[in-house]
Amino acid sequence: MMRTRPMRWWDIATIMPLETDLFGSTAWSPAQFWGELAQGNRVYVVAEDEAEIVGYAGLLCIPPTADVQTIAVASRAQRRGVGRALLQELLTAARRAECTEVLLEVRADNASAVALYADEGFDMIARRSGYYGPGEDALVMRRRPA
Ligand SMILES: CC(C)(COP(=O)(O)OP(=O)(O)OC[C@H]1O[C@@H](n2cnc3c(N)ncnc32)[C@H](O)[C@@H]1OP(=O)(O)O)[C@@H](O)C(=O)NCCC(=O)NCCS
Repeated sequence: MMRTRPMRWWDIATIMPLETDLFGSTAWSPAQFWGELAQGNRVYVVAEDEAEIVGYAGLLCIPPTADVQTIAVASRAQRRGVGRALLQELLTAARRAECTEVLLEVRADNASAVALYADEGFDMIARRSGYYGPGEDALVMRRRPA
């Protein structure tokens, strides 16, 4: 059975192989995760399936705005609702922190992520041309209210 719980520093070593596999050259380092967990205004969660971490996600909350920092699901566990569960967990955390909107940036060509966000009530509010490099655009998406 899948469940979510807060990410702890001892989870970082476990999620690093997933991070590298999913994000390649743009993967965060362990130090970046440590830095995120050390901040007071972050909410990081992991999804576990039978005690195995299959995904994780993080939120920055500075009311009235929250920002999705990352969301990732292991390749073998994708398309089973884990990403949606993680995103919903972040949205709940945003509301709890009295954020009234949630923003995120996503590569325009990341069809599965864009589909997930649209399905969860995010609208495209801007396109940043070349944000990730030549010809690689970012979409800024917003869900309001959180
Ligand atoms: C984006 C990502 C987090 C989605 O996680 P997931 O667990 O596979 O997504 P879910 O199973 O919860 O899917 C929820 C909905 O999103 C949409 N979706 C997800 N994957 C999709 C795909 N490959 N094609 C089309 N729609 C997709 C669907 O609407 C889906 O609902 P449905 O299965 O009922 O049709 C996952 O693909 C991932 O980790 N990708 C690599 C890392 C990444 O790109 N992260 C986002 C950076 S901004």
